[in-house]
Amino acid sequence: MRPGSNLDEFLADLARYAAAEVLTAQLTADTLRKYLRAGLIVPADLCAGDVDGYAQRLLHAGRTHSVVALTWLPGQSTPIHDHISWCVSGVVEGVEVDEAYRLWRLHGSGRRVLVPEGRTTCSPGRVQLLTPPDEDIHRVSNGGPGRAVSLHVYGADISPNGGSSINRVFGHEVVDTPPPGARPITWRTPDPLPR
Ligand SMILES: [Fe+2]
Repeated sequence: MRPGSNLDEFLADLARYAAAEVLTAQLTADTLRKYLRAGLIVPADLCAGDVDGYAQRLLHAGRTHSVVALTWLPGQSTPIHDHISWCVSGVVEGVEVDEAYRLWRLHGSGRRVLVPEGRTTCSPGRVQLLTPPDEDIHRVSNGGPGRAVSLHVYGADISPNGGSSINRVFGHEVVDTPPPGARPITWRTPDPLPR
């Protein structure tokens, strides 16, 4: 590191983007947004809800990417989770609420807590891009009175994972603000949590 230079930061960002295939993810987001705005029609049988939990239907799984249709009935939500790759989501119908979290490690004990990082309400046509692991911990809920349907694209073949994009589920305590002395766990400070 040379004093006064941010070259190392630039190189680190490039390495991060290459590792997470962010450029591919951004092109995917642009494409999904274009189709949603033009009126992407998802057949009714792929949008049916399930009273036992949010419904997932794998539309495509391949080496480069996978596509899933998800349906939330009123009151349904995912657990707090992260993904095995980048994730692009776009709302087809209804309202989805996306809550972002950051994992913090407490000084001394090593205990980890989650701190909310923001909440986004997504209406039809709204596209979100999450790149792991910094922006990648979230929970998605149905934020409206009716059914919510969205398409999610992941930068990996999720079929070996049982058709699920979830990497880890986070059952940690949620606190409003980071405790004193806690440090955020980011891609620069990999966290050896088991899957
Ligand atoms: Fe997710």
